[in-house]
Amino acid sequence: MTAVTEQWSARTRAIVAGRPAGTGQPMNVPIAPASMLGLDYAREDGTPTWAALEDALGELEGGTATAFASGIATASAVLDLIEAGSRIAVPGDSYAGTRALFAHAKQTGRVRVETIAPTDTAAWTEAASRCALLWLESPTNPSLDVMDVGAIAEAAARRSPAPLVVVDNTFATPLGQRPLSMGTDIVVHSATKFIGGHSDLLLGVTVTTDDGLAGRLRQARTLGGATPGALEAFLALRGLRTLPL
Ligand SMILES: Cc1ncc(COP(=O)(O)O)c(C=O)c1O
Repeated sequence: MTAVTEQWSARTRAIVAGRPAGTGQPMNVPIAPASMLGLDYAREDGTPTWAALEDALGELEGGTATAFASGIATASAVLDLIEAGSRIAVPGDSYAGTRALFAHAKQTGRVRVETIAPTDTAAWTEAASRCALLWLESPTNPSLDVMDVGAIAEAAARRSPAPLVVVDNTFATPLGQRPLSMGTDIVVHSATKFIGGHSDLLLGVTVTTDDGLAGRLRQARTLGGATPGALEAFLALRGLRTLPL
């Protein structure tokens, strides 16, 4: 892959990251529609096209990325990290599909769910003391409420055990906000939206700086099977190159 320099702007890194490097290499990442690469099985080990997208988004968010079949598949993978019976908090205004997934997990007895207004930072910091997961979305879909991600992450870090702080960064994009640099644990994207940019794909991505969490998210993809398509990964990477600031 082409080396990317920290001094470059996020805009430039979005254009360069994840491209093949070296003499004779194609400038753009090829689509690899293969379930086996040598002895590697794609659902477990990934493909070069997924890896290029993961490299680029990992570079922009500042962590290790894993591509999934959709944004909602990333929320399912995060739920997989949470012990059964735990309490989780979700913004009252946030993507309806995410709240539907959490409501379903509540209905089946998997977790307990608290709904908190996105801008009620005091309630979020208080929830950090009793929740295993704080699911943030900022700006929210559809109201575009902005959450105080830094303050909530800081409050969470003071707790022992600290809840997992996850940010759905779909609407900010990594060019507008880098939640991992604010002390959060995992960033998720519905790349279906701004990253894809053309309403012609479904895809999701998780990013984390924690190697243990990165491994568990990758394992959730392998076990759950919510893998991206080859064409979708190619198109998402192409969309990322022209992501507006
Ligand atoms: C903020 C946000 N998060 C998650 C999702 C779910 O993503 P997907 O439709 O790719 O499963 C959406 C979809 O609209 C969204 O807007």
